[in-house]
Amino acid sequence: MKKRVLITGGAGFLGSHLCERLLHEGADVLCVDNFFTGRKENIAHLLESPYFEIMRHDVTFPLYVEVDEIYNLACPASPVHYQHDPVQTTKTSVHGAINMLGLAKRTGAKIFQASTSEVYGDPEEHPQRESYWGKVNPIGTRSCYDEGKRCAETLFFDYHRQHGMNVKVARIFNTYGPRMNPDDGRVVSNFIVQALKGEDITIYGDGSQTRSFCYVEDLIEGFIRFMNSENGFSGPVNLGNSGEFSMRELAEKVIKLTGSKSKLTFKPLPQDDPLQRKPDITLAKESLDWEPVVDLDEGLHKTIQYFKKIDL
Ligand SMILES: NC(=O)c1ccc[n+]([C@@H]2O[C@H](COP(=O)([O-])OP(=O)(O)OC[C@H]3O[C@@H](n4cnc5c(N)ncnc54)[C@H](O)[C@@H]3O)[C@@H](O)[C@H]2O)c1
Repeated sequence: MKKRVLITGGAGFLGSHLCERLLHEGADVLCVDNFFTGRKENIAHLLESPYFEIMRHDVTFPLYVEVDEIYNLACPASPVHYQHDPVQTTKTSVHGAINMLGLAKRTGAKIFQASTSEVYGDPEEHPQRESYWGKVNPIGTRSCYDEGKRCAETLFFDYHRQHGMNVKVARIFNTYGPRMNPDDGRVVSNFIVQALKGEDITIYGDGSQTRSFCYVEDLIEGFIRFMNSENGFSGPVNLGNSGEFSMRELAEKVIKLTGSKSKLTFKPLPQDDPLQRKPDITLAKESLDWEPVVDLDEGLHKTIQYFKKIDL
């Protein structure tokens, strides 16, 4: 019998790639999404498969289905979206985790949580290892996301300890690629869209703040290896690319690869925006034999090709 896999947030950027990959591997995939930030276009090409189903459902409400594995990705991931209705963001992370963990407990399914590097907040340690507890503002405008994800991690590890469940908690660092939402304000999509439209590229701060960027296919490979790891390994484990680039370097690469005439403009840094963020991926290398293989130029090239094809 085919493995039945539930992906919450399956119509989003990462979720749609995961649906595609798992279908390709022969799984029976159930994509659950409330389409807050996800789009039907992201998964329309999968509908011809008899082993792909979509269910419109909000994970803050309980769900009763029979599955073998759950990937819990439902949650708006970019500040413009998660700050739009911050109470709903916390509910999605916390109630969503409770509902999906409850489902996993009832069905005996393995369950994966898409956590985030934001659990480290504005880190005092660089690069960040999983043992670092983070420096997070509990009452700021990013807290609905950061604290929601931290609470979800707590729930995952409590279900693991209390009920002996097989949980997998991945802390995802900035990921980019085709199907990113063009207007969600994330830096890679912002820069590419501005460059393709020939508009000035907006840099917040002086552009010296750094980020690491992981190409989506590399990340999805990490998800699958983690879910399939049978060594009782629950994480949390960092998944991301440890190459570090400043915002200015990224903008210059995008201008070069798009051949755009865009210039750079500078605006003040938003509240609680971390100055540096880069994963230490030693644990993922050791436990999952995983590391990214797509370099930034190649990944940007593929992403730019996607943005050229869609209506901006
Ligand atoms: N992309 C990244 O760089 C990144 C980094 C760290 C963590 N993550 C995490 O990975 C997951 C996926 O992120 P993404 O980049 O694909 O974002 P996305 O916004 O494209 O996808 C999130 C999906 O969840 C759905 N959703 C939101 N609230 C829901 C709810 N209450 N019920 C059902 N569905 C709901 C949205 O409609 C969307 O399809 C998120 O949990 C995010 O926090 C992503």
